[in-house]
Amino acid sequence: MTTTPSTGPNILDPALIADPRGGFDLVREEAPVVLGRSADGTPAWYVTRYDDVRAVLGDPRFVNSPVSTAGTDAVANRDQMFEMLGISREFVPYMTSSILDVDGIDHVRLRKLVSRAFTVRRINALRPRVEEIAAALLDGLDGSVDLISEFAYPLPITVICELVGIPEADRPLWREMGAASNSIAPGAMGTAVRQMVTYTHDLIDQRRAQPADDLLTDLIRAQDEDGDQLSDVEMVTMVLALVTAGHETTANLIGNGALALLTHPDQLETLRREPELWPTAVNELMRWCGPVQIAQLRYASADVEVGGQVIAAGEAVQAVLVSANQDPRAYDEPERLDVTRRPAGRGDGHVGFGHGIHYCLGAALAKQEGEVALRSLFDRFPAMALEAAEQTWAAVPGMRQLASLPVKLR
Ligand code: HEM
Repeated sequence: MTTTPSTGPNILDPALIADPRGGFDLVREEAPVVLGRSADGTPAWYVTRYDDVRAVLGDPRFVNSPVSTAGTDAVANRDQMFEMLGISREFVPYMTSSILDVDGIDHVRLRKLVSRAFTVRRINALRPRVEEIAAALLDGLDGSVDLISEFAYPLPITVICELVGIPEADRPLWREMGAASNSIAPGAMGTAVRQMVTYTHDLIDQRRAQPADDLLTDLIRAQDEDGDQLSDVEMVTMVLALVTAGHETTANLIGNGALALLTHPDQLETLRREPELWPTAVNELMRWCGPVQIAQLRYASADVEVGGQVIAAGEAVQAVLVSANQDPRAYDEPERLDVTRRPAGRGDGHVGFGHGIHYCLGAALAKQEGEVALRSLFDRFPAMALEAAEQTWAAVPGMRQLASLPVKLR
């Protein structure tokens, strides 16, 4: 146990990051809605029970943009954080107007426009290509490898770049920029944001001149019934959101999922006997070791009671997804990985992809990639074994991310 209700959780706590599974158990049981600190150091209520997390994420009175709340210094705090991270003023709009940062009709408009380009047809049609990409990556592996850098990372970045329409030659650059954009090292994020924004504006200009069969071209074409086109800033912001949201998260699902199955050979055996269980297994892996530990910060736009605690207008809330997914009120034996576990009722049954209006836009793609990646990996290398007994976790706040996963393939 790494945090105590008396001090309150802090998402930057290295001990919490190093203990990605159990760190919230005591908080959830003893002080399920408790004041801690958010990544920028300001006070935030940590909400840790399943029902309360869903209540927060499903309640329009909790908003993603501090601008939407009255009487708060959250905007000032946010601007201060950007300054600290080296993001200059001209790039702030790209950081604050993404689909995940806006509320109400602004969000409805963006979600509708991107949903038109991000269609089920496009995702389903991509499956054979995802299989090909996975097979090609596995062809290149032998002996002892780090699964994170050699497989888990290259797969989703290739898929998302291909989907969006980022040329093959530029993908390594995007991988670097993506990693830097998550870095808390001084200056790294600012530089990465500047590079990604400039690159994407140029790419949009190219697609305007020469349309292609990709999501970027669809976005350029996308108009709602009122002829409400995306502005260039919004389009760039959307592309950045898709690439950054769809890259490391999925890589971490593949990495965490591989580790989970390698350390639970009985579960892997069940999947070998009953391969039709793979989609169920991926859903359970999302619950048991899903990569996103905590939802984006929410702000109360009015006084709202959650789990018996009044959260006052203007106060910030951290919905702890990883804790909700381990809540014994929602699951029998939540600590047990069970690839046959089926969600009760409709939907995922877990909150690893969030809940409510900001529910992950890329969930179907992520599940498809997770399934194809893990299944191809374990089919190709049935005798694969871990090389290290203990794994190292990367210090990325809010993310359950392995620094590496050394394995012996045969
Ligand atoms: C939203 C998780 C993959 C695009 C979210 C949210 C979560 C999440 C938890 C909601 C955050 C909140 O409400 O604060 C994940 C996980 C993934 C994954 C665990 C992989 C295993 C992807 C992929 C894409 C994507 C592949 C795109 C290609 C998005 C977008 C949103 C989002 C655009 C914002 C939706 C909105 O605000 O309406 N994701 N995601 N994600 N995700 Fe994902």
